[in-house]
Amino acid sequence: MSKVLLTGGMGFIGSHTAVSLIENGYDVVIVDNLVNSEEDVVHRLEKFKNVTIPFYNGDCRDENLLDKIFNEHDIEIVIHFAGLKAVGESVSLPLEYYENNLNATISLLKSMLKNKVHKLVFSSSATVYDEDNPDERVEGYKLGCTNPYGWTKFMCEQIIRDTCHANSQLNAISLRYFNPVGAHPSGIIGENPKGVPNNLMPYIQQVATGVRDYLRVYGNDYDTVDGTGVRDYIHVCDLADAHVAASKYLQNNKGCLEINIGTGKGASVLEMVEAFEKANKIKIPYKIEARRPGDVAINYANANKAYKLLGWKATRTLEDMCKDAYNWQCNLQKKHN
Ligand code: NAD
Ligand code: WQD
Repeated sequence: MSKVLLTGGMGFIGSHTAVSLIENGYDVVIVDNLVNSEEDVVHRLEKFKNVTIPFYNGDCRDENLLDKIFNEHDIEIVIHFAGLKAVGESVSLPLEYYENNLNATISLLKSMLKNKVHKLVFSSSATVYDEDNPDERVEGYKLGCTNPYGWTKFMCEQIIRDTCHANSQLNAISLRYFNPVGAHPSGIIGENPKGVPNNLMPYIQQVATGVRDYLRVYGNDYDTVDGTGVRDYIHVCDLADAHVAASKYLQNNKGCLEINIGTGKGASVLEMVEAFEKANKIKIPYKIEARRPGDVAINYANANKAYKLLGWKATRTLEDMCKDAYNWQCNLQKKHN
């Protein structure tokens, strides 16, 4: 059985990817320093899938630790999720973001090459696209970022390309995720942001369960269907499956690629609110506020490359995303009460 190392595998996307990989016959090993996750996740995954998951509580910047993991396990593929991801925080803590996200990627690449591990999937982001592009983002479009977090993704992609160029045996795919939301339908894993959520869906989830009074809708004067911002929301389980497809691709092909992972369709903030209300038969109170600085009106993925090369496309609906997100949030709430 092929073994996959998930860096940052205890987090939101990593934990869902662990489930998809296991369901597709892969063994998984996780390394995570728990800076934004909880140790309990691995126990939940093990119980849910009835497997043992070797877990290393440590930092990806630590090359010796990575060498040790590659020595102890015959890893074929690495999926590199580990990173700090809060856009606003990155503006106030740029050095922490560059230090963490770049050094983790550099140490990982060095250790992979040393230990002859030659397949890498990297968590990149739609945020690497320059704002000044058509709304439907295509992989070849101009890149450029508006915040340090985005630049770390931009730079890591470049570091990976340069390392592939210098080491022809190395193969890599940077997956540019759009807006991952939802949770596993089992309700055992999901997103649990610390503090006030920055992103739309976790905020709606907290309004739905009474943690917050109402949603602040950032602007209704954009040139969109109803004036509110439009994004490409993708169910985290579809995103997890995309990692399985990328892993399979690397087992059969060579190269260094960047691929969008989205549904190819946009939804506005108010459409998301409506979908959540309808799916869960619950009211989400909201107030219209000023635009959030740095937001664009519309962006969504052109997802053709993912389908063409990986044979992957999103299958879950907005209703699935909203139902599963609410189910997870209710479970989380029960645990805390
Ligand atoms: P997350 O914070 O839930 O998961 C990231 C995990 O990495 C956490 O468990 C954290 O503890 C760990 N980590 C961070 N730095 C580490 C280090 N130096 N060593 C070891 N572990 C470390 O975030 P997520 O939403 O699951 O995102 C996973 C990846 O996908 C991130 O790289 C993120 O930037 C990227 N991404 C996320 C989104 C999104 O909206 N969630 C969108 C695009 C890209
Ligand atoms: C979506 C829409 C807001 C919160 C961010 C990162 C990006 C990527 C995904 C990692 C916008 C509106 C939001 C709220 C609102 N992450 N909104 N009220 O900004 O598209 O992308 O997450 O790579 O890098 O920038 O997602 O969920 O924050 O916002 O009205 O309380 O919801 O204005 O139109 P965004 P988001």
